[in-house]
Formats: sequence, structure tokens, C-alpha cells
Amino acid sequence: MNIQGKTALITGASRGIGRAIAMEFAHQGVKRVLLVARDYQRLVDVAADVEALGAEAIILALDLSQPVEVSVAIAQAWRNHGPIQLLVNCAGIAHQKPFLQSRLPNVQEEIAVNLMGMYTITRLIARRMATQREGTIVNVSSLMGKVAAPTMATYSATKFAILGFTQALRGELAGQNVQVIALLPSLTDTDMVRDLQWFRWATPTTPEHVAQALVRGLQKQSHEILVGWQSHLVLWGDRLAPWLMEKILLMAAPLSRNQQPPYSRHRYKLTEEL
Ligand SMILES: NC(=O)c1ccc[n+]([C@@H]2O[C@H](COP(=O)([O-])OP(=O)(O)OC[C@H]3O[C@@H](n4cnc5c(N)ncnc54)[C@H](OP(=O)(O)O)[C@@H]3O)[C@@H](O)[C@H]2O)c1
Repeated sequence: MNIQGKTALITGASRGIGRAIAMEFAHQGVKRVLLVARDYQRLVDVAADVEALGAEAIILALDLSQPVEVSVAIAQAWRNHGPIQLLVNCAGIAHQKPFLQSRLPNVQEEIAVNLMGMYTITRLIARRMATQREGTIVNVSSLMGKVAAPTMATYSATKFAILGFTQALRGELAGQNVQVIALLPSLTDTDMVRDLQWFRWATPTTPEHVAQALVRGLQKQSHEILVGWQSHLVLWGDRLAPWLMEKILLMAAPLSRNQQPPYSRHRYKLTEEL
């Protein structure tokens, strides 16, 4: 896909990978970028940077876990600034915990944003793209949508689900000339990972590098865009010797460094159930 002169909507555009994608799109000649996230002030700053690169920026300060709010805003945005030819579903959150210490509200939040938020906005835009018979949808999964790892069980579950969602939609919408693809970043230096305990041997890439990989993947019409050689290595390893990859992931996970079982008699409390 050639993105020059197109209108794109990017969720999670206030910072991190979403912000870098907005900047890279503007740099590559996109005509208009609709920026979605909750933090209005951060979006104002991103919009100024996008406009400095020559693209028009529209701010949509939205909480993707609120379907009514999203529905009204997208209907208005399509009317005033559409049609949208490119949707990038980048908003996401991650909670890292050993599963036995996990909290239901955190898991609900991951599902509400990573899955239900993506579902809500995709349905609204995909229907309009299908009518228009033109569009590309990029769903941001993760390398953890291919290989799950200790301490990230619930986050990985949402990222695996995104790949299934993407594959099914690709088949369904192909007849309406709407392409659906996945972007699978590996560890990237953003706010999301600053408070996480990193996996041993993982070296972070930059959000700008991820955004450039997306643009290259769009040009090549790839169905799944991996970022960096480490990701290719992990996927090949998983295909050829899944048992070995599982052992390596276990050794690399932060869990192996703090081997304090949360369910030991001294530490496990019923109050931790929720
Ligand atoms: N960083 C990594 O290592 C990594 C690796 C693989 C995949 N990914 C994926 O890449 C995507 C972007 O991650 P990132 O690292 O750039 O994270 P980030 O820096 O934490 O940014 C997350 C973005 O999502 C937005 N967001 C969160 N909750 C939202 C909600 N309820 N409604 C609307 N927007 C919401 C945030 O904006 P507001 O707070 O302003 O709402 C922010 O713009 C995520 O899907 C993540 O899973 C990241």
C-alpha cells in the first residue's frame, strides 16, 4: 500500500509506538492523521509535531473502553474528515504479574482496551471501509502474540487473540477490498515497558524503528510484520524446536530471578484472590 495522500486513524497516538507511527506517516506524505488516545494535552503536542511535517492532524480524545463515546466520535470524524483509508489499532496496556498474583481488575482492563477497544473501533470503521470498498486495518499485536512467556499470561492472551481476530477479518473483508494485517513489535523502549521487569537477553528497539518497519510492511503488503532479526530468530526457534524455546523463555523470564512462590504458606492470602 502506498500511504501518500491517504487519511489514517491511529489509536494510542499520544505516545510510544502510536506517536512514532503518526510521525512516520506524516514524514511519508500521509494527507491527514486522526490521533486517538485519552490524554488531550499529549495529543495536542503530537498534532503540532505531525503538522510541522506537513500533514493535517485531527485530535480525538477518547477512552476506547467506552463504546458509546467511541461510536459517536467515529461517526462525526468520518463525516467531517473521512473517508479513512488506514486504521492502525495501536492502543494497548500491559500488566506484568506471576499469574497466581494477578488481579481481576487488571485483567479486565487489558481485555477492555486490547480486545474490546480494538473490536469497537474496528467494527465502526471496517463497515464504512467495506461500503467504500477501500481500506487497510493494522492491528498491533506483539511477539508475545506468537510466543507466550511467564509473568505476561493475560497480556499474551490478548495478543494471541488479536492475531486470530486479524486472520479471520482478513478472510472476511478481502472481498470488500479491505486488507487486514498485524504488526508484531518486540521489546520497544516506551512508557509501557518502563515499569516492567525485562526478559533477560532482550534488547529494546525504538518506537521509530517499529514505525519504519510498519511502513515497509505496508509497501510489501505483508500479512504479519515482524520487527528486527531477534523476532525472526524467536519465531524460527519456536517453529523448529518449540520445547527448546519454552525452556529458553523460562530462563529469560523475570520469574526465574525472583523465585518466591506467591502461593507459599506464608505469603498467600485469600485477600489476593481479587
Ligand atoms: N513497548 C513494547 O515493548 C511493545 C512490544 C510489543 C507490542 N507492543 C504493543 O504496541 C502498542 C503500543 O504500545 P506502547 O509501547 O507504545 O505503549 P505506551 O507507550 O504505553 O502507549 C500506549 C498508548 O495507548 C493509549 N491508551 C491506553 N489505554 C487507552 C484507552 N483506554 N483508550 C484510548 N487509548 C488508550 C495511551 O494513551 P493515553 O494514556 O493517552 O490514553 C498510549 O497512547 C500496544 O498495543 C502494545 O501492546 C508494545
